Amino acid sequence: MNYTGNSSESTQKSQPTVSENSSNVSGMNISSQHLSQGQHQVHIPQTSGYQRGTSDAIQRSLLPQRSTVSSGKYSLGDFHIMRTLGTGSFGRVHLVRSVHNGRYYAVKVLKKAQVIKMKQVEHTNDERRMLKLVEHPFLIRMWGTFQDSKNLFMVMDYIEGGELFSLLRKSQRFPNPVAKFYAAEVCLALEYLHSHDIIYRDLKPENILLDRNGHIKITDFGFAKEVSTVTWTLCGTPDYIAPEVITSKPYNKSVDWWSLGVLIFEMLAGYTPFYDSTPMKTYEKILSGKIHYPNFFTPDVIDLLSNLITADLTRRLGNLINGPADIRNHPWFQEVIWEKILAKDIETPYEPPITAGVGDSSLFDHYPEEQLDYGSAGEDPYAHFFTEF
Ligand SMILES: Nc1ncnc2c1ncn2[C@@H]1O[C@H](COP(=O)(O)OP(=O)(O)OP(=O)(O)O)[C@@H](O)[C@H]1O
Ligand SMILES: [Mg+2]
Repeated sequence: MNYTGNSSESTQKSQPTVSENSSNVSGMNISSQHLSQGQHQVHIPQTSGYQRGTSDAIQRSLLPQRSTVSSGKYSLGDFHIMRTLGTGSFGRVHLVRSVHNGRYYAVKVLKKAQVIKMKQVEHTNDERRMLKLVEHPFLIRMWGTFQDSKNLFMVMDYIEGGELFSLLRKSQRFPNPVAKFYAAEVCLALEYLHSHDIIYRDLKPENILLDRNGHIKITDFGFAKEVSTVTWTLCGTPDYIAPEVITSKPYNKSVDWWSLGVLIFEMLAGYTPFYDSTPMKTYEKILSGKIHYPNFFTPDVIDLLSNLITADLTRRLGNLINGPADIRNHPWFQEVIWEKILAKDIETPYEPPITAGVGDSSLFDHYPEEQLDYGSAGEDPYAHFFTEF
């Protein structure tokens, strides 16, 4: 599958924080379809009481411990810090180059004070734990972590093809086979996480990167958690949050299958099903349960989506007796050969136009750079919160 097209329009992207910045998306097109509606995506910082029960208690991990990832394995001196690739509520992600092997990596830097202020200590330690454990073709790989007195650092592979978000905004919307390809890769990644009792909780196009060949890598494990039963935390991104999370009910892995439904809808339509001008209005729409499917959606995808984006947990695919097999076996995925998807034995719909291996970051948006305080050795009042880094 190959798609080319033109779009000179830029669209706005809301940063995952409470305040919204905008920046232009430029550079990539795979389809010439145009839709006018934009989208706001805002993370909800936790304000209080985010752990309300004991079922969140960490179970013995089902995943093998990877010996390559140890705390303090690297230090700042191992890398040249380069441009910012993305920013978030607690810090930023930099392109970096190893002074030892000359290779490029991505380093996520979180400000300790900000993590404390936004009550994200537990989530940050979980992010490190989850990233250390997971090993899958469609999940980001972390190599190690370290810290200074003010910041936490996570060293990951650098994924060169940019965010699926940028590609989608430039393309307006994806043709059915393209959406299906990305959905299939995401589906296998979620199935892997769930089989190891990890809920991801932040599925959205900003967190899905494309590698040099056009396969996906899911990044941002900031809300991922090992949970074998149910949990209560209110977190995620408004447009993608399941109703049971909004209403503070105990919820399980199936919140990720709801988000997969929203993602498929957004890839096909170019906007999310509950889009509105404020998070509150979006929540009201989610709770109302009404979805308007564009008339170009095919009956099989409407059937799939109405059984993913449903508040009724006894109907939601992925949550039933056959688990994720019900999604994989759904008629919309009929022509998908899952073994080939997993083996990356399928031609990708879009090959990012970059030079591989040289730190090409032309497909990433630009963010204001700031004076870096990395490497400071002063007082560290929060050290005891982050002993694993
Ligand atoms: N391994 C990577 N390679 C290339 N770019 C990356 C990588 N990891 C993250 N990025 C870029 O940085 C952006 C922000 O990273 P990430 O999503 O992990 O942080 P965040 O959204 O700030 O996290 P949080 O939700 O915890 O605030 C991503 O959307 C992506 O554009
Ligand atoms: Mg993110």
